[in-house]
Amino acid sequence: MLEIRKELLDFSPYSPGLSIEEIKKKYNLANVIKMASNENPLGTSPRVVEVIKKFSPYAFRYPQSGNPELVGKLSDILNVPDECIVVTNGSDEIIDLIIRVLAVPYRDNIVVFDPSFSIYRMQAKFHGISVKYVPLNKDFSFNFKGMLDAIDENTKIIFITNPDNPSGYCVSSEDIIEFLCKIPENILVVVDEAYVEFCDDPENCSCINHVLDNKNLVVIRTFSKLYGLAGLRIGYGILPFKLSDYIKRVKLPFSVNLMAEKAAIEVLDDFTFIEHTRNTVIKGRKYLKEEMEKLDCTLYPSQANFLMFKPPIDANVVFEELLKKGIIIRPLKSYGLDDYLRVSVGREDENKLFIHYLKQILQGG
Ligand SMILES: Cc1ncc(COP(=O)(O)O)c(C=O)c1O
Repeated sequence: MLEIRKELLDFSPYSPGLSIEEIKKKYNLANVIKMASNENPLGTSPRVVEVIKKFSPYAFRYPQSGNPELVGKLSDILNVPDECIVVTNGSDEIIDLIIRVLAVPYRDNIVVFDPSFSIYRMQAKFHGISVKYVPLNKDFSFNFKGMLDAIDENTKIIFITNPDNPSGYCVSSEDIIEFLCKIPENILVVVDEAYVEFCDDPENCSCINHVLDNKNLVVIRTFSKLYGLAGLRIGYGILPFKLSDYIKRVKLPFSVNLMAEKAAIEVLDDFTFIEHTRNTVIKGRKYLKEEMEKLDCTLYPSQANFLMFKPPIDANVVFEELLKKGIIIRPLKSYGLDDYLRVSVGREDENKLFIHYLKQILQGG
C-alpha cells in the first residue's frame, strides 16, 4: 500500500481561473471572454508566433542548459551580471527553488502577507516548511510592522508581491529597501515583481537596481504577463551571486524549453507589442475603475493589470451571472476574500462588454 506523506493529505490542487472551453460547454456559448488570469489582453506577439514557427523544426533538440542567450540579453537590459540571473519554468519554479535551497524542512518558516499569491505557501508546505501569515492592513496596504514582528530565529524567507496580487497595491522600491534594512541579513526578502511593468512608474517601484547592493534581496519576474508568454512558462530571478550559484546546481537542467527561450528573446525586442500592451492596460484600468465606481462597486487602487473590487451585492452572484453571459472573472474565495472579485484588464471591446453586463447584473439596466 502506497503511503502519502501525511502533511500532504489535506492538499488540494492550485485553483486556476476557469478555462474558456469549460464555460463554452457549460453554458452553450459561442463566445467567451476570459478576464480571470491576468494574461496579456493583446494575446501573443506576432513576432513570437513567427519565431516559434521558425524554431519548431528544432523541437527534437534539448535546449541549452542555463539558457545563456536569454541570460546574456537580460543582463544587458537590466544591467546586472549574468551570474545573478536564473531563468526558470515560470516564476513559479524560482519560488519553489528558493524555498528548497534556503529553508530546512520541519525547522524553518517563511513569512507572507495574508492574503497573498498561493504558490508561496503551497510550495513551502509541500517541502515541510511552515508558513507565518501577517494580515495586510484593512485597506490592503502592506503591514511591514506586522512582518517585522512575525520573523523569528527560524525565518528564512519573506515574500512580498509588488504590485500585490490580488489587490494591485504597490509601494516604491524606497519603501521596500527601508523595510529590508530592518531585516537580519540571514533572512532573504523576495520581491515578486510579476506585475511591475504595469505600474505608472516601473522604475520607481522595481527593486532590481538594489539586488547587487544587498546580500539578502531577490527580485523575481515573469514573461507571463506583459510579455504574453504564460502558456510557454518562463520567468527569472535576479539573485545575490551565492544564491544563484546554488540554485543553478540543483535546478533541473532543461526546465525551460527551447521555444520559450526563443520567444522570450524575441519579445524583449518587440517594443511595439510591449508599449501597446502597457498602454492598453493603463488606459483600460482607468476606464474599468471609473465605470465600476459608478456602479457602486468598491475599488482598490491597482498598479497591476487587474482590479480587485467588492460589488454592492453578493460577489458569487455577480461571478455566476457574468459566467452565464460568457465573461470569466476571478472569485477570490481561495484568497479568503469571499466578498471580493478580481477582473483582469482586457482589450477595449472586452472591457466595455464587461461593464455592460455588470451594469445589467447590478442595475438590471
Ligand atoms: C504574484 C505572482 N507571482 C508569480 C506568478 C506566476 O507566474 P508564472 O506564470 O511566471 O509562473 C503569478 C501568476 O499569476 C503571480 O500572480
